[in-house]
Amino acid sequence: MQFPDYRPRRLRQNDAFRKMIRETSLSVNDLILPLFAIGGKNIQNPITSLPGHFQLSIDNLAKTATSAHQLGIPAVMLFGIPEHKDAMATSAYARDGIVQQATKALKDTIPDLAVITDVCLCQYTDHGHCGVVDCEIIDNDATLELLAKTALSHVQAGADMVAPSDMMDGRVAEIRDILDDNNFYHAPIMSYSAKYCSAYYGPFRNAADSAPKFGDRRTYQMDPGNVLEAIREVMLDIEEGADIIMVKPALAYLDIICRVREEIDLPLAAYNVSGEYAMIKAGEQMGWIDGPRIMMETLTAIKRAGADMILTYFAMDAAQVLSGSVDCEWQG
Ligand code: PBG
Ligand code: ZN
Repeated sequence: MQFPDYRPRRLRQNDAFRKMIRETSLSVNDLILPLFAIGGKNIQNPITSLPGHFQLSIDNLAKTATSAHQLGIPAVMLFGIPEHKDAMATSAYARDGIVQQATKALKDTIPDLAVITDVCLCQYTDHGHCGVVDCEIIDNDATLELLAKTALSHVQAGADMVAPSDMMDGRVAEIRDILDDNNFYHAPIMSYSAKYCSAYYGPFRNAADSAPKFGDRRTYQMDPGNVLEAIREVMLDIEEGADIIMVKPALAYLDIICRVREEIDLPLAAYNVSGEYAMIKAGEQMGWIDGPRIMMETLTAIKRAGADMILTYFAMDAAQVLSGSVDCEWQG
């Protein structure tokens, strides 16, 4: 088909046609809201680099989660900010740890909202690395047991799904084993499979107080230049028993989402990370960009690349646009 017989503009001339031929649609069902839990009562510490987000004590966490649920958001991703940090990350797998308590509270108040817990050690270790450190080296195999204990403690507290984000080799299998051994064979694992070593996590590390005290995460998170390695990581996690595969970050890695989508038939998640959110919010605050429209365009792009679900700090804002309660003329 060639011009003038074929004219693509014919099907762009009105809203009805545009709706009919739109290939990608975003739904509130696609959104997962990250939340930060902290000890205490009636605490709502603003996270400066993530405008609109807070470190929340459990009472306030339940309120925010209730609003998310009312907007139709199906799940939250829970992160904890513990009071105590040490070399073995003991607060990560303590029965009364912050994530464990928050999970219980959320499941008590809003049983239908799925609680996914981030399983990692970096918020809980005094050195800020995602694993056990031996002479400044991150000891892969010594870390596995602690990650597995952490995942089990989350599920015992009522978590619906666990999401290991540490990038240690073999952790999905280790977690699958411990869950199955304890009769939690029904609890799915969402694996941060292709997680890159990225400066886009900067605002999160302020929010969760989880920046490494020495060195960086290059020996466990992936090099930004690699794509074939992402496929290998994903395949390993599938063999080890992952139920949902995640690519992270999302925006600078849309090609990875696309490649992974072509390779696998498991559900695919993408994490629209803190730095991606912060950049858009900053541009909006400067008055340089139309924040809500860029938000919707960005989330649509992540879906178009192949993600089935998106972890995003925009979840509440996007849900409001999708429900029609906030109008931003992003499509028409
Ligand atoms: C913990 C973890 C991080 C993020 C999710 N889980 C930070 C990191 O790896 O340093 C990043 C989330 C974000 O930037 O929004 N391992
Ligand atoms: Zn970590």
